[in-house]
Amino acid sequence: MQHSELLLVLDFGSQYTQLIARRVRELGVYSEIHPFNISIDKIRSLRPVGIILSGGPSSVYESGAPKPSPEVLNLGIPVLGICYGLQLIAEQLGGKVDSFARREFGKAVLHVDRDDDLLQGLDGSTTVWMSHGDALSQMPEGFEPIAHSENAPICAIRNSSKRIFGVQFHPEVAHTLQGKKVLANFLFNVCGARGDWTPAHFVQQSTKDIRARIGSARVLCALSGGVDSSVLAVLLHEAIGDQLHCIHINNGLMRNGESDEVVETFRKSYHIQLTYVDATEIFLARLEGVTDPETKRKIIGNTFIEVFEIEAKKIAGSDGAFEYLAQGTLYPDVIESTSFKGPSVTIKTHHNVGGLPEKMNFKLLEPFRELFKDEVREVGTMLGLPAHFIERHPFPGPGLAVRVLGEITRERLDLLRKADEIFIAEIRNAGLYNDIWQAFVVLLPVRSVGVMGDGRTYEYTVALRAVTSVDGMTADWSRIPSDVLAKVSNRITNELRGINRVVYDISTKPPATIEWE
Ligand code: XMP
Repeated sequence: MQHSELLLVLDFGSQYTQLIARRVRELGVYSEIHPFNISIDKIRSLRPVGIILSGGPSSVYESGAPKPSPEVLNLGIPVLGICYGLQLIAEQLGGKVDSFARREFGKAVLHVDRDDDLLQGLDGSTTVWMSHGDALSQMPEGFEPIAHSENAPICAIRNSSKRIFGVQFHPEVAHTLQGKKVLANFLFNVCGARGDWTPAHFVQQSTKDIRARIGSARVLCALSGGVDSSVLAVLLHEAIGDQLHCIHINNGLMRNGESDEVVETFRKSYHIQLTYVDATEIFLARLEGVTDPETKRKIIGNTFIEVFEIEAKKIAGSDGAFEYLAQGTLYPDVIESTSFKGPSVTIKTHHNVGGLPEKMNFKLLEPFRELFKDEVREVGTMLGLPAHFIERHPFPGPGLAVRVLGEITRERLDLLRKADEIFIAEIRNAGLYNDIWQAFVVLLPVRSVGVMGDGRTYEYTVALRAVTSVDGMTADWSRIPSDVLAKVSNRITNELRGINRVVYDISTKPPATIEWE
């Protein structure tokens, strides 16, 4: 997509790099993350209104410390260095950085000494988030300090004529109370950005782009009913109408009523051409007797591709071949940067529609490659998708198969569906749903002894899992009030025959993962 205004974030490996890009976009300026060693020609071709140098775990004097081309500071484009980024500016322009006697991690009070341009409108003293072991001990030439803290005499610097700024703290982190103001000042006061990047703008522009690219070709889309594929289907339908055909495959591992709702919503309300395939039999038959999590995932992934391929051929046979496959790939999946090299071991084989494009010779259409998840949600809202589709918790491709631990049977799946429905209903009742990243029930392959009336029971245990998270990479267990947990436990054990014990999972990720398999 052509962007009339772009802010470039150079990544030096900070855990907060994505957050910088998100904050900038929230302020209405489209931003992209690129590796720190991007070529100067590439930077020029992107024509950014400004450049932010991210933080990073290195020390500027370390051998092999990541450094951008020194030319970055001579392009005449405004630059803001954050933490390590500030230290780079200092080091490259003749200042001095020292290992700091008192390392600063956490909250600190920033005292603003110059409140024009970058720090305009900030309180005289304001809380900021620090995370550094090195600090500036000598100013680079042509620069002046504009803020200090108790521990660091130089906390923010500027060279107004060159429009180069640096801050020791992290404006992108919520703990920096006026951080958004600092970023807004950089974008609007310093870079002169317009700030007209909005979901509405995205919809307009991408609809035009999709039409131009697709022409009269046909597009196939696997619609699971999750946030990404739902928003994708509606956007594509806006753009190309009946050239879009969706397939929803019920693998028998969905939650209660889920497939019906997908069909109802997209066929009846949106008039999207949708083929519904009930493939429950084949999935459950292939999963029979399988207990190993990775084997389950592989079977489900392969079966999905097989079923999809057969159905796609049927539809193509009647109405003409499909040239494109649409996928809901998001920006975090495509960022090529220092901090996002995935782990080299496979923790879990993620199954979405991977493998299909190569196998079936599709061209790929991925309109969300530039968007973060929260932006996809905003686009969905713009397009009028019902709130409960947009706010939905993530649901794994292999569905309930990875939540019925051990062997998967219809009986166990049904029991889990009912328990999950109760848990989610009570979380919604308590007004907690939107504060939780993901909540679900796991059926354990464990029976334990219980008592009911005068009788002994020997039944299943379920675990309730609810976590808070920003991106699913790390997670903490939700502090759900105990009376809500009590109600869920009561309802599950009273209403469902076959479960006599409910436990609450209080593990963080890491070391646990969110799903149990
Ligand atoms: P874990 O369990 O690895 O999960 O901590 C992190 C996030 O990813 C989801 N998840 C999946 N999503 N296909 C998906 O699309 C999958 O195969 C898959 N496995 C896990 C999980 O629900 C959580 O949000």
